[in-house]
Amino acid sequence: MTVLVTGGTGFIGSHTVVELLKEKHNVIIMDNLCNSKLEALHRIEQISGQKVPFYQVDMLDKEGVTRIFEENKIDAVIHFAGLKAVGESVTIPLKYYHNNITGTLTLCEVMAQYGVKKIVFSSSATVYGMNNQPPYVEDMPTSATNPYGYTKVMLEQILTDLHTADPEWSVSLLRYFNPIGAHESGLIGEDPNGIPNNLLPYVSQVAIGKLPCLSVYGNDYDTPDGTGVRDYIHVVDLAKGHIKALNYLMGRTGVEIFNLGTGKGTSVLEIVAAFEKASGKKVNYKIVGRRAGDIASCYADASRAKKLLGWVAEKNIDDMCRDGWNFISKNPNGL
Ligand code: NAD
Ligand code: UD1
Repeated sequence: MTVLVTGGTGFIGSHTVVELLKEKHNVIIMDNLCNSKLEALHRIEQISGQKVPFYQVDMLDKEGVTRIFEENKIDAVIHFAGLKAVGESVTIPLKYYHNNITGTLTLCEVMAQYGVKKIVFSSSATVYGMNNQPPYVEDMPTSATNPYGYTKVMLEQILTDLHTADPEWSVSLLRYFNPIGAHESGLIGEDPNGIPNNLLPYVSQVAIGKLPCLSVYGNDYDTPDGTGVRDYIHVVDLAKGHIKALNYLMGRTGVEIFNLGTGKGTSVLEIVAAFEKASGKKVNYKIVGRRAGDIASCYADASRAKKLLGWVAEKNIDDMCRDGWNFISKNPNGL
């Protein structure tokens, strides 16, 4: 099958492209490179030993998107493209709403025009908001606390409405927990611009000596050691979840929601210890106040994906830290 992967040179997209190629799918990547580099494409080709058609197209550019569908016979779309920095979404909300929402509307309009009605969408555990208690189950009410989160809540609704209006659509909404780690080759991984916001990229940069000290945002949460607990998932496990979701929606119509997480929570201090073990480096940290908008604990009930997709995460925190360290030590200045 031929799959268009939007955002395919990004962190999760690049790992998913590698898994798709491994499963002998034809892949076309569309990305505007606003948060990734062309080098990721070369690395994907190095890992897979295959050339991958690439379109440097912005999903807001309808003509550009149309050209991709005109030139290729596409069976399904895996849609990663989007802006994802929570703090930035608060300062430039219109850019986030325009890029993520208008961009997805444009993509779906072109898909409908070409009769391509199968889409796997990158949602997030952020849609569980502040009011649910973990483990999170797919039928809990959704909400958000920032524009980024609202784009996910709204896009889940928009894609659901699309299926209501035209039952030929087949939609898979994948709610990712916290993806970390890297491909075992060390050729692709997370490559954030500037000072990282998320825990693992920050810890990696402290371990490699680029940043002096991790600020641990609070040790007074109601968790076993007082620091925040999250459901970290290896990005390759996550990528494999997309192949299962894609297989599931072929030959079906409807909207299905799946949590992609391990179901296991790990604290900030447990991450620091695991990363020190994997890297053999000291990770200096200090405890500071809580970060606005953070919750104590977030982890999945991952049983639905197991039951319907036959998918379970296989890699543990030590694997995630080992592969994350392997990537940063091979690429200390990113790609
Ligand atoms: P990423 O930034 O590495 O990848 C996103 C890609 O989309 C980038 O390569 C970027 O250049 C591209 N892009 C953005 N806007 C575009 C546009 N208008 N046109 C074309 N390309 C565009 O992010 P990621 O971590 O790989 O995340 C992929 C998706 O998963 C995003 O939608 C994100 O919101 C979602 N998600 C990520 C996480 C996470 O922790 N990484 C968690 C939950 C959900
Ligand atoms: C963040 C986003 C969330 C998004 C997710 C994945 C916020 C408020 N939430 O979630 O919407 O879906 O990333 O992209 O930004 N931590 C530190 N020090 C740091 C960084 C993080 O102690 O320098 C702690 C946090 O308080 C948290 C844990 O580490 O307890 C994980 O943080 P992070 O990687 O930013 O992910 P989330 O908070 O889950």
